[in-house]
Amino acid sequence: MRTKIIAVGVALAMVAGGCGSEREGAGSTDGSSAPAKGFAADSLIGVALPSKTSENWVLAGGLFTAGLQEAGFQGDVQYAGASTTVADQQAQITAMITKGAKVIVIGATDAAQLSTQVAQAKQSGAVIIAYDRLITNTPDVDYYIAFDNFKVGQLQGQALLDGMKAKKATGPWTIELFSGSPDDNNSGVFFNGAMEVLKPAIASGDVVVGSGQTDVKQTATQGWKAENAQSRMDALLTSTYGSKTLDGVLSPNDTLARAIITSVKGAGKPVPVVTGQDSEVESVKSIMLGEQYSTINKDTRKLVTETINMVKTLQTGAEPEVNDTKSYDNGKKVVPAYLLPPVIVTKATAAEAYADDPKLAPLTK
Ligand code: GAL
Repeated sequence: MRTKIIAVGVALAMVAGGCGSEREGAGSTDGSSAPAKGFAADSLIGVALPSKTSENWVLAGGLFTAGLQEAGFQGDVQYAGASTTVADQQAQITAMITKGAKVIVIGATDAAQLSTQVAQAKQSGAVIIAYDRLITNTPDVDYYIAFDNFKVGQLQGQALLDGMKAKKATGPWTIELFSGSPDDNNSGVFFNGAMEVLKPAIASGDVVVGSGQTDVKQTATQGWKAENAQSRMDALLTSTYGSKTLDGVLSPNDTLARAIITSVKGAGKPVPVVTGQDSEVESVKSIMLGEQYSTINKDTRKLVTETINMVKTLQTGAEPEVNDTKSYDNGKKVVPAYLLPPVIVTKATAAEAYADDPKLAPLTK
């Protein structure tokens, strides 16, 4: 089903399952002589976040600082800088290990560039939780916690189709595809989820990708930077949409959705159906004005709360709850995951979706 799972993944799943039971064996099932797991209730917990590429990351830092403190831990929350992101994050994780962090929560800035640091962390006895973004090519990630990324993509693909149908009852509809930063493992997962929904419509000719650019590499937006999406959209408008109408754009998140809309408006063209993600304030406003078509609600408050719950469980020496042990093969193991359900939001559903969000609810009135 999920394109990330390959035959090798199944074999790895079995290996990972084996490791898991061995670990349990050492900790609980082999009786009282087992070494005590868990750690002191006021331990240091490191949180290494990427740079602030979207509002959810800005929110997460403050929520982790407050939540860890409230739970009685010493929190050490760091963001990678705006430019030297990978090196920054590597150094921050190393510093957390040196200071004796018992758990390190990581929102990876580059999925594939942390294997040395997480190996060191493991050696020091720390538990590694990949937060929101998976860390790849390492056996040293213990847990993954995120909103279901593949589902996010599927919801975006479906919203794009629904939005275009609502505007123009019959096809063919002409679209363009955008994906996120190639160093973020989520980007491919979002894209694959969306393409699972869009491919049949593309195959039947109901949906046409005007530029023909359907590969994740061609559609990528380095660094999740708005200016990169805007300049690619500018170029596409010039190359492909002189006289042709653009009906829809698959955008992986809100920051890029607004950049795409800015580009289209700048070219004096009507705003197409544009998807998004993250429920950013400016995008919720745009949705209520009837410009951006959809976003995804991935409530950062919930994700941070569940992550801190995981840390609390680890502190007691118990195994945290996971609800997916097959989808997230990182190339070295299938990482046990706790996935939360994302929610699609359009103008019609915004009031209900944000009813319990004091920041967003007033925007939907
Ligand atoms: C992703 C995250 C998205 C979005 C993006 C840009 O990893 O899941 O919600 O924030 O990063 O920073």
